[in-house]
Amino acid sequence: MEAVKIAEDIYWVGAIDWNARTFHGYATPRGTSYNSYLIIDEKITLIDAVKAPFINQLVSRIRSVIDPKDIDIIISNHSENDHSSGLQIMQQMTGAPIYASRKGSEHLPLNFGPMNVVKVADGEEMSIGKRTLKFIETPMLHWPDSMMTYCKEDRILFSMDGFGQHFASSRRFDDEVDAPTLFDEAAKYYANILMPFGSQYQSALEKVKGLDIKMLATAHGIIWRTMIGEILARYSAWSNHETKKKVVVIYDTMWGSTEMMAQSIVEGVASEGVDVQLCKVSTMDRSQIMREILDAKAVVLGTPTMNMGIFPTMADTAWYIKGLKPKNRYGAVFGSYGWASAGTKALKEVLVNSGLEFVFEDIDIRFNPMEEGRKRCFEFGRTIAKKVMS
Ligand code: FEO
Repeated sequence: MEAVKIAEDIYWVGAIDWNARTFHGYATPRGTSYNSYLIIDEKITLIDAVKAPFINQLVSRIRSVIDPKDIDIIISNHSENDHSSGLQIMQQMTGAPIYASRKGSEHLPLNFGPMNVVKVADGEEMSIGKRTLKFIETPMLHWPDSMMTYCKEDRILFSMDGFGQHFASSRRFDDEVDAPTLFDEAAKYYANILMPFGSQYQSALEKVKGLDIKMLATAHGIIWRTMIGEILARYSAWSNHETKKKVVVIYDTMWGSTEMMAQSIVEGVASEGVDVQLCKVSTMDRSQIMREILDAKAVVLGTPTMNMGIFPTMADTAWYIKGLKPKNRYGAVFGSYGWASAGTKALKEVLVNSGLEFVFEDIDIRFNPMEEGRKRCFEFGRTIAKKVMS
């Protein structure tokens, strides 16, 4: 396998995982890549490894440029397994020390066993010959140990998880792939991985703003070199929890009553001219639902009562949403029941600390909503739409 030259004496030597279909619960229908970079200088430097099962791709691409044994320095920007489970093999092969943040130097031996790790500080610079590398701590993006590495002379920011996408491609750069697909995957990645860390991203963006950047060399997917301003602007909006006038209605159904309610709510929202997306959790993956929530001002969730609680598929989705903390958005719940009402209340309780702001009265209907219930749901949708427009 061949390395891809991204600048003079700098190569992409990562691995493409065409068949990845999940990333800790996040569906990845387009696969992913684990991006590593090789810098040929007086001290030959490898930036990040790959997931251990893909080490042969990394070694083979390095070998297309140099003998892997000649690597002098390894930099680990992030200790999560998708980048670092191959580090120990690379250290054994090269004997090179691994440079990591303070937290990274704590995590790596705990996660992968003894290894020679050198701690670097936020803002510290290291000369590797003609080039200077600067380490920029970006905690919680996406783990406490995360950092980015900036190569001053080439103006390349090795941005780790930041600005990445789960997008397997034989192409390496943003201007070589379909732009709407690329931005959609970047949005999905942000919504499913980075959304809880908006304020930390705001801090990171402040640090990044001061840098002269020619290339954002991510750890997943495509490298940004042409649309850097646009992806930075989108990250600024996403991390600031900016949304559109849009409503997402998320539900599942047992015998069709909750579905009828959901459809009437959608009709009500649409009647006010507000964008609305209907998501049935048994037919739409939860990570795609998060993508829809990313730019929505209101999130409306519905469940049937089952066994005095939430319908199982809705419970799964509600917990997932709660963990990703979609702040600065309105929340609303609705549901149907037969014997006793419990699901709607339980659903709201799950979401109480999710960041959603519940300002609407819940709707809970016994058995079939009938004409009258459907009208109530339609009006519920109109009320939500008006709030979103206000
Ligand atoms: Fe790509 Fe947080 O690891």
